[in-house]
Amino acid sequence: MSATPRIGIVTISDRASQGVYEDKSGPAIREELTRILSCPWEAVVRLIPDERPGIEMTLIELADAEGCCLVCTTGGTGPAPRDVTPEATAAVCEKILDGFGERMRAVSLNSVPTAILSRQLAGTRGKTLIVNLPGKPAAIAECLGAVFPAIPYCIDLIGGPYLETNPAVCAAFRPKGATKPKP
Ligand code: MTE
Repeated sequence: MSATPRIGIVTISDRASQGVYEDKSGPAIREELTRILSCPWEAVVRLIPDERPGIEMTLIELADAEGCCLVCTTGGTGPAPRDVTPEATAAVCEKILDGFGERMRAVSLNSVPTAILSRQLAGTRGKTLIVNLPGKPAAIAECLGAVFPAIPYCIDLIGGPYLETNPAVCAAFRPKGATKPKP
């Protein structure tokens, strides 16, 4: 029997990690993934400050040691001096998938003109796909919903587990001929 897919949820925020305010974005990611995924999965959750070495270490840990097939980050994608999530993500990824950021910004622009301030990106590290989401809780469902149809096939291609989605919420797209591996 194959292991339950693990998904990392990383909130990157100085204030939430110091307890100045409650982290609402990490729980919003978990809730949205619960709505989207129809297969069993388990969350590996982290709450860390906007420090590049710590972000890189956390992403590496979740990918290499915790074996997450997907890691979603939230926060630190903007232009402020302490926003370093995209730099940390790019530093630990082997391949950058530009379409993710393009798609998420395009969708977010329907809601807020400041969507162009997010430098969010996605990339792969080994068998892990890392996706940056902006810090605003409202951005989570919007951005994840926009790119999730392509995520299961991306994870197939990098050798991760076969993710299944609830088609009423999000229909995963796999090209014709992409087959489900035998258990
Ligand atoms: N995207 C969506 N969907 N909704 C939002 O409210 N906020 C924008 C942008 N993208 C936003 C969004 C704003 S105001 C900023 S500054 C950037 O995301 C970066 O946010 P972050 O630094 O918290 O990641």
